[in-house]
Amino acid sequence: MNLEKLWLEKIKLTLASKNIAVLISGGGTNLQAIIDNTENNYINGKIKIVISNREDAYGLVRAEKAGIPGFFIKDDEELISKLKENKIDLIILAGYLKILPEKITKIYENKIINIHPSLIPAFCGRGYYGLKVHEAVISRGVKYTGATTHFVNEGADEGPIIMQRIVEVEDESPEELQQKVLKIEHEILPLSVKYFCEDKLKVVNGKVVIGG
Ligand code: GRF
Repeated sequence: MNLEKLWLEKIKLTLASKNIAVLISGGGTNLQAIIDNTENNYINGKIKIVISNREDAYGLVRAEKAGIPGFFIKDDEELISKLKENKIDLIILAGYLKILPEKITKIYENKIINIHPSLIPAFCGRGYYGLKVHEAVISRGVKYTGATTHFVNEGADEGPIIMQRIVEVEDESPEELQQKVLKIEHEILPLSVKYFCEDKLKVVNGKVVIGG
C-alpha cells in the first residue's frame, strides 16, 4: 500500500473511532485493560470519560494517570447528561456495582457492555458480585467457571451474551480463583470492545452474532 492510501486508511479509522465511557466502582483492572488496548490501537475507540459511583475508587486514579477525565457521579440524571455531553457511543461497565435504571438501558440499547466473572447464566444476577461469585462457585463444587461479556438490558446479567471463556476450578481459594478469572476477563473484555468498535456485533433474536 502506498503512503497516500495508508494515510487515507488512517483518516478513515480516526473518523470511525467510537467514544467510550467506562463506569467503575473499584480497583479498575478491567478499565486498565481497556486503557492499554485503546492506547496501542488494538481497539478503535477513545475513552472519553471514566465515571465512578464511589469517590475513593482506585480506577479514578488509573484514569487520571492516563489523562482521561474522571468523575464521581451517583445521580442518574447527572450520569445521563455526562454521557450525552460527551457523545458516548459505547458504555462499558467494568466492575460497576450499581444496576443501571431502565431509562439508561433503553437509550443505550445494545450499546452497554458488562463483564461478569462467571459463566452466565450460572452464578449471576442480584447478590453475585466480587468474591461472592467465586465463593459460590467453589462451594457448589463446579469443575469449570469463567467470564462472560454481555450487552446490558433492564435485567441483572440477563442481556445478550457476547463472549465467554472458561477456566478450570482447582483446589484454590476464592481469592486465587478471582485472580485466575480476572486474567481471562482482561482478554475477552478488550476483544468484545474491539469487535463493537468495528461494528462486528449484531443482535439477532436476542443473540449476539459476531460478523465481519
Ligand atoms: C470484575 O471481576 C468484573 O467481572 C466484575 O467486577 C470486577 C471488577 O474488577 N464485574 P476490576 O475493578 O476491573 O479490577
